[in-house]
Amino acid sequence: MKVLVTGIDGYSGWPLALHLLSRGHEVVGIDNFVTRKRVAEVGSWSATPIPSFPNRQKAVREILGKELTFYKGDLTNYQFVHEVLEREKPDSVVHLAEQRSAPYSMIDVHHAVATQVQNLTGTLHLIYAIRDTCPTAHLVKMGTMGEYGTPNTDIPEGFFETEFHGRKDYLPFPRQAGSWYHWSKVFDSGDVMFASKIFGLAATDVMQGVIYGIRTPEITDHRLLTRFDFDETWGTALNRFIAQSVLGLPITAYGKGEQKRGFIALEDSMQSLRLAVEHPAKPGEYRVFNQFDAAYSVNQLAEITARVAHEFGLKPVIEHPPDPRVEAEQHYYNPIHEHLLALGYKRARDLEEVVREIFHDLLHFRRRLEAKRFVVMPTVQWRSVDSEPALHARLPPTAHPGASSPTTQGSEPTTEHPPA
Ligand SMILES: NC(=O)c1ccc[n+]([C@@H]2O[C@H](COP(=O)([O-])OP(=O)(O)OC[C@H]3O[C@@H](n4cnc5c(N)ncnc54)[C@H](O)[C@@H]3O)[C@@H](O)[C@H]2O)c1
Repeated sequence: MKVLVTGIDGYSGWPLALHLLSRGHEVVGIDNFVTRKRVAEVGSWSATPIPSFPNRQKAVREILGKELTFYKGDLTNYQFVHEVLEREKPDSVVHLAEQRSAPYSMIDVHHAVATQVQNLTGTLHLIYAIRDTCPTAHLVKMGTMGEYGTPNTDIPEGFFETEFHGRKDYLPFPRQAGSWYHWSKVFDSGDVMFASKIFGLAATDVMQGVIYGIRTPEITDHRLLTRFDFDETWGTALNRFIAQSVLGLPITAYGKGEQKRGFIALEDSMQSLRLAVEHPAKPGEYRVFNQFDAAYSVNQLAEITARVAHEFGLKPVIEHPPDPRVEAEQHYYNPIHEHLLALGYKRARDLEEVVREIFHDLLHFRRRLEAKRFVVMPTVQWRSVDSEPALHARLPPTAHPGASSPTTQGSEPTTEHPPA
């Protein structure tokens, strides 16, 4: 199959490309390198050094013996998107190219607007370009388990049977997102579902749990590593806990630490996305996969991190600063996840073993963490009129997300280097 991966330079796009290539698929990628720029905007970088994209392509050629076609450009430019799809006519489009940080979307009005405008625009452009150039292509759209929030009921896979005033229907399960970013994903889901209805789009909407890990079986060389974000804006709670342990800082488990979320290892997330690609939805079908393996509370993540840290001679303490987010600190959480199992999905990785692997890698790159140790502790507030001065002090004076968006490039495969 020919698969177009949007966001191929990102944390999950890169290992997905490697995984699909190793399974014999043809892979074409799009990216505008905005995550690299946005992480730099908050004063951070990936703990793992990430080569320029041309060097990534070279590594794939030399190590995997495969070719990777790449287009540098922005999904918010419709002409660019249309040209790439017209030329490549992929069988599947895996759409990962979105602003994916909840704290980033909560910094201020500019970051909230940029997140929603850019995420929704990119998705709508892909929907229309698929309709006009390759209408049978299957869209695999990356959503998030965060769309559902934490209702006091089980969470079905997208739809549920309901009865109201004596009448029954099968309806989308209510969404209760917890950040402007998560709401952008909810609106995306509505748009993809609607496109299936009106354009006959074949679509899989993946409610992705939080991904953990740096390695997959295809990452056999340091030139193939994917990024690992550990700062307060771009790093997940688990990533920050491990970075804090390596840096000798306290582990900051927000509030009571009873907030639960669904998690999945990077390798297993790649397996799930490949299964979705290889078993496409039918034309006009909109299906939803809840993609996670197990739910963990913030306290469980902190305790597992601290336990594994001890194996490496580190002795982090767990602290409970006030929760900067607006979220239930104690709640019921039981999402259902059966659709991927029906396609043959089998969990390969265990959280604790992956945490051990991450410690191993981060201790190797410790100096890169040390160089950015001031970005790990929390400053972005959900409630306040604006985020903490500490973060704004780190943002360049003119920085707002519009300024950090690159101008759109042409649709030729590029040899241009992204910023370091
Ligand atoms: N990482 C997780 O734990 C997680 C969990 C749930 C959902 N997701 C979703 O998965 C997707 C991928 O996440 P990720 O962690 O790989 O993020 P990432 O930021 O590392 O990767 C996204 C890539 O897309 C590119 N991009 C963003 N906007 C673009 C645009 N307008 N045009 C072209 N390229 C653009 C970025 O430069 C980046 O390389 C996102 O949609 C995210 O919301 C991720």
